[in-house]
Amino acid sequence: MIEEPVECEVWWASPAQSDPALLELLDDAERARHGRFRRAADRDRYAVAHALARLVLAEAAGCGPAEVAFVLECPHCDGTEDREPHGKPRPAGPAAGLELSISHSGDRVAVALARGVPVGVDVEEVSERRDVAGLAEMVLAPAERAALAALPAERSALAFYDYWARKEALLKASGEGIYSGLTAVSVTPPGEPPRVLSWATPGAPPLDRVRLQGLDAGSGYRAALAVLTPAPVAVAVRDAAPLLSPLAADDPPPG
Ligand SMILES: CC(C)(COP(=O)(O)OP(=O)(O)OC[C@H]1O[C@@H](n2cnc3c(N)ncnc32)[C@H](O)[C@@H]1OP(=O)(O)O)[C@@H](O)C(=O)NCCC(=O)NCCS
Ligand SMILES: [Zn+2]
Repeated sequence: MIEEPVECEVWWASPAQSDPALLELLDDAERARHGRFRRAADRDRYAVAHALARLVLAEAAGCGPAEVAFVLECPHCDGTEDREPHGKPRPAGPAAGLELSISHSGDRVAVALARGVPVGVDVEEVSERRDVAGLAEMVLAPAERAALAALPAERSALAFYDYWARKEALLKASGEGIYSGLTAVSVTPPGEPPRVLSWATPGAPPLDRVRLQGLDAGSGYRAALAVLTPAPVAVAVRDAAPLLSPLAADDPPPG
């Protein structure tokens, strides 16, 4: 029997597509968080990501973006904590049953969508300024650190960000986040097809229900997609401009 592939969409946008009109799509909690970012770049990434998430869900659910709601689920909290909602966004209302993941880094915003199966996307800007060896201590398992150390210096930064994106995509798909540590999951080395090798966090799925693949995020970025399903995954990559730009065009003319 040939198993039907699970379809998954990955939408790409840029923080430069931010526009005041997008804020109208956000809910009160999102607008409040947007207003607390100090740096314009963070505000723009957040606005584009959250507006796009609603537009993508609305299109998939066949409803208006204002009808889409999210519940934020943190597996480490029981809701009695005195802090604002946080964690994996779970679509609700007419979009219930759809699965979503959001990532933003540098000039990239990504939103991944799947139906009925958990999905996680992660994009990382490759920064030559960051201390990769120091970060590797926190992010990589011992065998991964050894594989990284064996690479020529000019390949090690890119390889590190490949590892990082792959591992975060997995921990975002499960909703675990990095709370239990990124070293609790290990993946194949960059240069080999992405695959999870071990996953030792409490909410980890069986390894035969994990699909992991790289995404092309352009030069200077590394990105990965994780889908928690035993089925093969068919990814459709989409440009968010047709969803975002009609809203921006509705702005009143300046003056
Ligand atoms: C979520 C996390 C993996 C994001 O990594 P990142 O590379 O810094 O940022 P990204 O842009 O790729 O992803 C951010 C998005 O992940 C999503 N997210 C947050 N927590 C998540 C979780 N547990 N599972 C899946 N997705 C999550 C949100 O949509 C978030 O978007 P927003 O910041 O615009 O609201 C990481 O920061 C994390 O795990 N944080 C939570 C740590 C934690 O558990 N703290 C204790 C809570 S009690
Ligand atoms: Zn929490």
